[in-house]
Amino acid sequence: MTQNKTILVTGGAGFIGSHTVVALAEAGFRPVIIDDFSNSEQRVLAGLHQILGYEVPCYPKNCNDAATLRTIFQKENIQGVIHFAAFKAVGESMTEPLRYYHNNLGSLITLLEIQLEMGVPDLIFSSSCTVYGEPDTLPVDELAPVKPAISVYGNTKQIGEEILRDTVAAGKPLKIISLRYFNPIGAHPTGCIGELPLGVPGNLVPYITQTAAGLREQLTVFGDDYPTPDGTCIRDYIHVMDLAEAHVAALQALQNRAGQQHYDVFNVGTGQGVSVLDLVRSFEAILGQPLNYRIGPRRPGDVTAVYADATKIKQELGWTARRGLREALEDAWRWEQQLASK
Ligand code: UD1
Repeated sequence: MTQNKTILVTGGAGFIGSHTVVALAEAGFRPVIIDDFSNSEQRVLAGLHQILGYEVPCYPKNCNDAATLRTIFQKENIQGVIHFAAFKAVGESMTEPLRYYHNNLGSLITLLEIQLEMGVPDLIFSSSCTVYGEPDTLPVDELAPVKPAISVYGNTKQIGEEILRDTVAAGKPLKIISLRYFNPIGAHPTGCIGELPLGVPGNLVPYITQTAAGLREQLTVFGDDYPTPDGTCIRDYIHVMDLAEAHVAALQALQNRAGQQHYDVFNVGTGQGVSVLDLVRSFEAILGQPLNYRIGPRRPGDVTAVYADATKIKQELGWTARRGLREALEDAWRWEQQLASK
């Protein structure tokens, strides 16, 4: 029974975490957040309150701390975990590798130890399509080889997956799914929660919406000389609420699964490849006017094209993306506008 089962959402005040809290609540789970607010803001909790009509319990703590986790597991009767808490700035990970390895992998190991101690087997782990690097074939499925990571951030995701796989292979009573996300965009349709980038956004869609809102002068498109139809990079942009619902589907699959042990990996994408210029044009159609952009040099570390073969998650978990690019961009723009109005 899903009804009222309590799920710990680490990093639940972050972009994907907060939307997953909503999806969990809508599916009848009781979400509890642990978030140290190192890269998120307290006002997310107010947004969640507005959407759900009640206050989601939140522990403002770092989850790389066994004593804190133990207390929460006991007090809240935790019956499953979705682990988002991690640092995610690709550039910063290259200058602060130990901080990234310590935080991203330390918290994962601590969490696994506490889950074993408390007898809570179910875990969903945030992984990334970054593990595929520049794929040899497209769309990319889960059998494609994992390529050497380009960034420390990417490596924390690869090593995280290995830690999980090895721990289950060693016979530990854990049931785990790693979800390899493609590019999450958009916001909750109410405009109450969305992405809150710190400082200058590194990701494309927040940069676009901030440019349209007048917070940034101009978008730079990073390269138009890639071997793609329009020369710009191709990605698989997925609505964050679709991604959130994929976590619920994965968790329900684990909870309904007989047996003590399980490890599996799923892509979470739409299956549609969209170029940077395609995305800019779609946004301009919503805006009703041109976006100020220029073509600049390539960004080091960017892959040419990556989009998902999302067959496995559809067949095995019954999940598929329901929202289109336009809806995602409309929701992102609504969120940006209501931020500007405050
Ligand atoms: C990036 C990270 C990836 C991480 C993901 C999380 C890198 C190299 N990769 O993915 O590891 O999991 O974010 O969301 O940082 N673009 C522009 N102008 C901009 C910003 C982006 O043209 O101002 C282009 C990029 O070149 C890319 C596309 O937009 O082709 C998407 O970029 P971004 O949103 O940063 O995502 P990824 O690079 O795919």
